Amino acid sequence: MTKSSVRVGVIGCGYWGPNLVRTLAGMEDVQLARISDIRPGRLDFIAKRYPDIVGSCDAMTVISDPSIDAIVIATPPTTHHKLAIAALRAGKHVMVEKPLATSVEEGRQMVLVAAQASRILAVGHLFLYAPAVTRIRSLFDEGRLGDIYYISAVRTNVGPPDPQVDALWDLAPHDISVILNLMKGVPEEVIAYGASFTNRNLAEAVFVTLRFGDGRLAQVHVGWLTSNKTRLMRIVCSQGEVVYDEMHPTDKVQVHNPSIDNRLQAGATDATLSYRSGGVWCPTLHNYEPLRAECRDFIDSILQGRRPISDGETGLSVVHVLELAAKCMQNGGRSVLQSLSSVARAEAIV
Ligand SMILES: NC(=O)c1ccc[n+]([C@@H]2O[C@H](COP(=O)([O-])OP(=O)(O)OC[C@H]3O[C@@H](n4cnc5c(N)ncnc54)[C@H](O)[C@@H]3O)[C@@H](O)[C@H]2O)c1
Repeated sequence: MTKSSVRVGVIGCGYWGPNLVRTLAGMEDVQLARISDIRPGRLDFIAKRYPDIVGSCDAMTVISDPSIDAIVIATPPTTHHKLAIAALRAGKHVMVEKPLATSVEEGRQMVLVAAQASRILAVGHLFLYAPAVTRIRSLFDEGRLGDIYYISAVRTNVGPPDPQVDALWDLAPHDISVILNLMKGVPEEVIAYGASFTNRNLAEAVFVTLRFGDGRLAQVHVGWLTSNKTRLMRIVCSQGEVVYDEMHPTDKVQVHNPSIDNRLQAGATDATLSYRSGGVWCPTLHNYEPLRAECRDFIDSILQGRRPISDGETGLSVVHVLELAAKCMQNGGRSVLQSLSSVARAEAIV
């Protein structure tokens, strides 16, 4: 008999986990039955709002519950591999927060175990579900913006109080997932510099450059040292430029038509020689919560037996770029050349 609902457990109820709990608890075809966090206070926090959900400090009580179909993991990245492998081996479908893992080796094993167990492995690359990114991608797919030349992205905010990973692994998964998605491919070369300026040993400001085989470029700057929150992406393309500002209250996506440089044509009466900016238009965006779309995709992929948009392979490609960037940072910025396309595909395809 085909299932019409999914029983879910959530592991990790710190900063992000409660958002997943709220979203999943609001879905008609989801029974959010169990949660786990090693900090009892976080269980109490959820219990006040959702008294019917059973809480435990031991994640294995969720993983080993035979009535649970799927597990959502929102613990620190260093714990994703161990918890996800245990859940997949227990026959659960798994959605793990970004990044999938903290090394390619771990991520690859997660993808393979999911395939062997015939279970869904989804990764919480939230922005692949964001209305702005979905719209930008469809504008490129419809041929309305031409070809992408390069992308530059900035994602900065105040750093977390007790980070387990550096700013690269904390913030860059978002931009890299969007860049790989829009570029429809993986880079040939990754160069990165990172630095720590306060007493942390973890890089707090990171600059990553990606070079794709056909010459296209992308650059990502992430950092924990700014007081204001910035989420800005510029996509320079043959039909102009897309400016995507996630922090803009209304016009998150602005498309700038090509400018006209008429300085050489200026005549004797022109007082100033200048160029004229092209027009700007703001595509209409659908109004929905990206986290709900992400969770919906995970649940539907279980019920319909299909891959989610942000699947294990997607997550593995992102981890691959992050690992190359981390290695380059450790090498003092010496570039790491590697064919990601062959590595990501050969080992990850299920
Ligand atoms: N998609 C997004 O926009 C987004 C935003 C923030 C965080 N995240 C991701 O969510 C994950 C969690 O981040 P956070 O900011 O909520 O971290 P956090 O430290 O605030 O919360 C993690 C929670 O996991 C618990 N935990 C750790 N090990 C556990 C275990 N073995 N069993 C049960 N509970 C355990 C901790 O006690 C803590 O409460 C990370 O992977 C992060 O990258 C995603």
